[in-house]
This record gives sequence, structure tokens and C-alpha cells, in this order.
Amino acid sequence: MSGSMVRVWDLPTRLFHWTLAALVAFSIVSANVGGNWIQWHFYSGYVILTIIAFRVFWGFAGGRYARFSSFLFGPRAIIDAVRARPGAPRTLGHNPLGSLSVFALLASVGLQAAIGLFANDDIASEGPLVKFISKAASDRLTWLHHQNGNVIIALIVLHVLAILFYLVRKRENLIVPMLTGDKSAVESGLASRDDAALRVRAALALGACALAVWYLVSYLPK
Ligand code: HEM
Ligand code: HEM
Repeated sequence: MSGSMVRVWDLPTRLFHWTLAALVAFSIVSANVGGNWIQWHFYSGYVILTIIAFRVFWGFAGGRYARFSSFLFGPRAIIDAVRARPGAPRTLGHNPLGSLSVFALLASVGLQAAIGLFANDDIASEGPLVKFISKAASDRLTWLHHQNGNVIIALIVLHVLAILFYLVRKRENLIVPMLTGDKSAVESGLASRDDAALRVRAALALGACALAVWYLVSYLPK
């Protein structure tokens, strides 16, 4: 271990990541098992919807490297990142190429949970918002839910392969920082906030998102 460590991922972002990964995996498994598991598939989707809403808020009000503005890059920066040699100065937060996968995963998973609310399994279960649309429309959205499910699986495979590529070929371990929050300080390494006040802000935002989703799936009048 060389040099000092600098906080990059605040605790809320780390909890968000591993909770999302676990729940998305559970959602894919439970959808394929079917039967009574579909109920848990729904619940898992509601929690995913909640934490994605939280993550969008956090993209504006979170720690330095959790903010969207810190990983919005143009094509130029992305091409340069692809061409960068091992040992080139690295970015502390999401790198320009990785940021594409972050946005793609957040968008596709958020969309999936939203579409799921309108989906049905042609047996006994339908999403809580099916009551607002026709059966034909629900069937089309269910089809889209299946297709987008495959897109998500492909994106996850790419995501994990990219991280393994960094580990093996570029000798940069991105996984440990997503667990501990810290990276070894490099040039111009500004730390992210991760203090108690920031975490309280996250908890309050998460609570608000949970209430909104709860209302949406349980109480929205027709
Ligand atoms: C269902 C599976 C997964 C999903 C949906 C997912 C999604 C995401 C998302 C949305 C981010 C951006 C984090 C943020 O800024 O909020 C991210 C980053 C990250 N994920 Fe995953 N992830 C999954 C599985 C995994 C697995 C299995 C690993 C470990 C091998 C992993 C390692 C990472 C790492 C290291 C980062 C940070 C990348 C960077 O340094 O820029 N993820 N992931
Ligand atoms: C991000 C969260 C979600 C993911 C990743 C996900 C994933 C999937 C996948 C991959 C399938 C297709 C399974 C297959 O190929 O047979 C599926 C089916 C389904 N999902 Fe989701 N889903 C999510 C959220 C939801 C939500 C929130 C609801 C409803 C409230 C929902 C309702 C359904 C229904 C009704 C089916 C059809 C099952 C069948 O055809 O028998 N999903 N989901």
C-alpha cells in the first residue's frame, strides 16, 4: 500500500451499488423461477425503483464523485480514455468510458422497474398500474419488459467484464474502492464528502423516495 487514501465513493453510493446489484440479480432469478416468486419479483422492483429515484437525487446532491456533473464527458474525453496507456493519469471517480455504462445501467434498470408496474404474467399477477391501461397495452409493455430484461443482462455482463479488464490488464482494482470508499491518492485528488450530515441527507432522501413509491404502488387512485 503506497501513499495516503482519499475518499471517493460516499457510503450512500456504495450501499446503493451493492443493494442494486443484489436486487437486480434477485429480480432476474425470481422472474425466471415464476410461481409465487413473482410477488417477490414485484417487491424487489419497488425497492429498485426507490433506490434509483434516490440515486437520481444523489446525482445532484451527493458526494463529489456521485454527482452526474463529475462524470458527464464528451466524445473527445471518451476516445482519449479508450486510448490511454496503462500508467496514464487515472480519474478518481468514474472514468469517461465507464460513465457510459453507469448511465446505461441506471437508465435501463430504472426503465425496467417503471415498465414492470404495467406488466402482467398472463396468469394471476399484474403490476399495480395495469388498472390504468388496456390489456393490449399491458401486453405490449410486458413484451418490452422482457426485451429490456435481456438488454440489462447484456449490460451487466459488459459491466463486469470491463471491471475485470481493468483488474487484469490495467492492474487497477476498482472493486475494493466500491467496498471501502477509498482510492490511493493520485495527483489532484480531491476527496468526496462522506460525513454524518451527508449521510443523514441521504437517509432523508431515501425515505422520501420510499414514501413516493409506496404511494404510487398502493394508493394511487384510479
Ligand atoms: C446486477 C449487477 C450490477 C449492476 C446493476 C451494477 C450497476 C452499477 C452502477 C449503476 C454503477 C455506478 C455506481 C454509481 O455511481 O451509482 C456501478 C459501478 C460499479 N460497479 Fe456495478 N453493478 C452490478 C454488478 C457489479 C459487480 C458484480 C461488480 C464487481 C465485480 C461491480 C463493480 C462495480 C464497480 C467497481 C463500480 C465502480 C466503477 C468505477 O470505478 O467507475 N458491479 N455498477
Ligand atoms: C429493475 C427491476 C426489474 C427487473 C430487472 C425485471 C426483470 C424481469 C425479467 C428479466 C423478466 C422476464 C423473465 C423471463 O424471461 O421469463 C421479467 C418478467 C416480469 N416482470 Fe419484471 N423486472 C423488474 C421489475 C418488475 C416490476 C416492478 C414488476 C411489477 C410490479 C415486474 C413484473 C414482471 C412481470 C409481470 C413479468 C412477466 C412474468 C411472466 O411473463 O410470467 N417486474 N422481469
